[in-house]
Amino acid sequence: MTTYKLPLPKDFEGKLNGKNTHLITLTNRAGMQIALTDYGARLVSALVPDKNGDLIDVVLGFNGIQEYLQAKQYYHGATVGRFCNRIANGKFAIDGKEYTLAQNNGSNCLHGGVDGFHNRVWDRQVSFNKQVDFYYVSPDGEEGFPGELKTTISYELSNENEIIIKYRATTNAPTVLNLTNHAYFNLNGEGNGDTLNHEVTILSDEFLPLNENQIPTGDIYPVEGTAFDFRQPKLLATDINSPEEQIQIANGYDHSFINKQPISEPIAKTFSKESGIELQVFTTEPSLHLYSGNFLDEDQGKSGKKYLRYGGLCFESQHYPDSPNQEKFPSVRLNPGEVFESETRYKFCIKKS
Ligand code: BGC
Repeated sequence: MTTYKLPLPKDFEGKLNGKNTHLITLTNRAGMQIALTDYGARLVSALVPDKNGDLIDVVLGFNGIQEYLQAKQYYHGATVGRFCNRIANGKFAIDGKEYTLAQNNGSNCLHGGVDGFHNRVWDRQVSFNKQVDFYYVSPDGEEGFPGELKTTISYELSNENEIIIKYRATTNAPTVLNLTNHAYFNLNGEGNGDTLNHEVTILSDEFLPLNENQIPTGDIYPVEGTAFDFRQPKLLATDINSPEEQIQIANGYDHSFINKQPISEPIAKTFSKESGIELQVFTTEPSLHLYSGNFLDEDQGKSGKKYLRYGGLCFESQHYPDSPNQEKFPSVRLNPGEVFESETRYKFCIKKS
């Protein structure tokens, strides 16, 4: 059995783009521990008690900044912005003015461009071993987006084994934004095989179908009778190889589910019989993007084990992908004088199977 420990702070200490990088750890009264780094305002580790009381690291990641920089997958645990997910053709317009972004995913702009928020060193403030606030001022025009955007991401570890993430942003010119966290979770422990044996529940009746470029078609489909119906708990393995077109387009799950749950009710849950750990996801965002780690297969993680395809599940709370180009989707526009605020909670508990 793997004994999981937090990475060492010294392996995160260095200088990147003229700024110092660090590892920050938080512990709660129940013994849960998390580690974060200011490089990408990332969640590096989450040590959660399993059904035997052993601490399991349920977040995929690496042991130092250099390893994050060398990884083939860039978004492990990161805050993704200014605009997570895809913008078609890397273009959008605000008040008739067109903006051009990097095309770093075929013709799409993915996850804010090449040097998005995941690749920035954030300022930080740690409060009482319980909360970290990360700050970043994204200059006007950065990665092609208009307006200077001031962003704060707060991570709090509650005594109820919840990681509470709060997002806030303001701008000095009309802009668009969509922020998420890209942690990959494996409730059997990072690197411990794939997540096909995880039971998944998503309390959503509808999802957004994608075109062949993985851009929402603009339709909203009922999950009823499709591989996307997770309203009753279902193993991830059940339909992940379904011949349905939507599964084939994305090589698995890589889709946004419409969220109508209030923040007090989980939109999604996942459970591993092996560890007895259940993760519940709560959010104020209008959708939850399930990404089943379809392209994970190259990096070697913290405890030296290779991350396999489906080796981690991302539950990315967000606005709908490509919203700036889709008038019917909830607005992602932020104006000067407004404050963007959103909250997502990842709560861990032990469940009897
Ligand atoms: C996207 C995937 C993408 C992955 C990269 C996910 O959020 O939805 O399509 O391949 O990020 O890490």
